[in-house]
Amino acid sequence: MALAQQQTGGLRHARTGIELRPGLDGVPATQSAICDIDGEKGLLTYRGYPMEELAVNSSFLETAYLLIWGELPTQDQLHSFEHEVQMHRRVSFRVRDMMKCFPASGHPMDALQSSAAALGLFYSRRAIDDPNYIYKAVVRLIAKIPTMVAAFQLIRKGQDPIQPRDDLAYSANFLYMLTEREPDPLAARIFDRCLMLHAEHSLNASTFSARVTASTLTDPYAVVASAVGTLAGPLHGGANEDVLAMLEDIGTPDQAGAYLDHAIAEKRKIMGFGHREYRVKDPRAVILQSFVEEMFDEFGHDNLYDVARALEQEAESRLGPKGIYPNVDFYSGLVYRKLGIPRDLFTPVFAIARVAGWLAHWREQLGANRIFRPSQIYTGSEPRVWMPIDGRVSAPAA
Ligand code: COA
Repeated sequence: MALAQQQTGGLRHARTGIELRPGLDGVPATQSAICDIDGEKGLLTYRGYPMEELAVNSSFLETAYLLIWGELPTQDQLHSFEHEVQMHRRVSFRVRDMMKCFPASGHPMDALQSSAAALGLFYSRRAIDDPNYIYKAVVRLIAKIPTMVAAFQLIRKGQDPIQPRDDLAYSANFLYMLTEREPDPLAARIFDRCLMLHAEHSLNASTFSARVTASTLTDPYAVVASAVGTLAGPLHGGANEDVLAMLEDIGTPDQAGAYLDHAIAEKRKIMGFGHREYRVKDPRAVILQSFVEEMFDEFGHDNLYDVARALEQEAESRLGPKGIYPNVDFYSGLVYRKLGIPRDLFTPVFAIARVAGWLAHWREQLGANRIFRPSQIYTGSEPRVWMPIDGRVSAPAA
């Protein structure tokens, strides 16, 4: 018996009467004290602190600490967290050797997902309720993910990964491992701020995936691996790669209007625009735009920025009335490009940041766990009689 009934306004579950909301749009799926978004006003807070204040005053590791443990650390707590992360940056030679077997043409997000999952082989999952295990897992994941992203970049170029440098802070060390050069302090500072901006964003697709995985009480490496896989899609973290391709396609600012008209006529999404939560410009896009300008003042202009600004202006009248404005991915690619980060590493860089949010949600989920098991509205066939193979006629695949 099909458990569905069509009513005005949507499909409802016949037994419970609950309306199906595709994409769970607007449906609360958990409670959380980690991050709040006011999509009408364009406000974003982590544990109550406005993003704008954190971006100026904090660092990525301090923000990660805040997200995961709930309060800003004292000087001692921060020092010890930074020290622990620094001590765990190296990854086992076995993981590096495994990465050497990956095809160089593979996407770095696939490499990251596989290596994050592989970490679970090294660190037992049996202590999931032990606070020391939780602390160490947090430290290890935050410390090792950047090392693995940088390692794959060098491995696919046929080189050996560079070991982390203990005299460099978290973000400077990542840029060093990636580019084989010690970064300019401004570049390292802006990269660190980008990580803060991307660290958490409530129950987005990858975080939801992390919480669902966490709710089975599996290990945190599996939680992060499943979230990395979810982040990889072009409707989520993968959009910032596509934004740059789109800006290059448009070519010059005077082509922006025509590009938009054409894309809208063809019902194509404009990459880097639109957000389920925001009806105004994403506050992170506003901050990132200021980083872009700061970087250009110091390191030289990028003409694609002019194309981006023209596109944003042209989109105001065409998409603004529907509440579609630039999101976090619109300007982040321009920052990363200036930092010399290859385009297909933009999403892995997003993952380096978002691991903080995923781990905060992992902890929160463990604190009041109930396994996720939503229902569905069955739309398949009524029960039917088994048909022996020689009595079947071929039917088009559903
Ligand atoms: N460009 C053009 N139109 C867009 C759009 C975009 N980037 N994003 C949404 N819309 C339009 C849709 O076409 C739809 O219009 P319609 O009602 O006339 O059919 C309406 O806005 C709602 O779109 P929908 O896809 O249902 O919104 P959503 O809340 O499910 O999707 C995103 C949110 C982020 C997936 C969506 O905006 C998107 O695909 N953006 C581009 C990819 C991107 O930048 N992702 C990064 C997100 S941080």
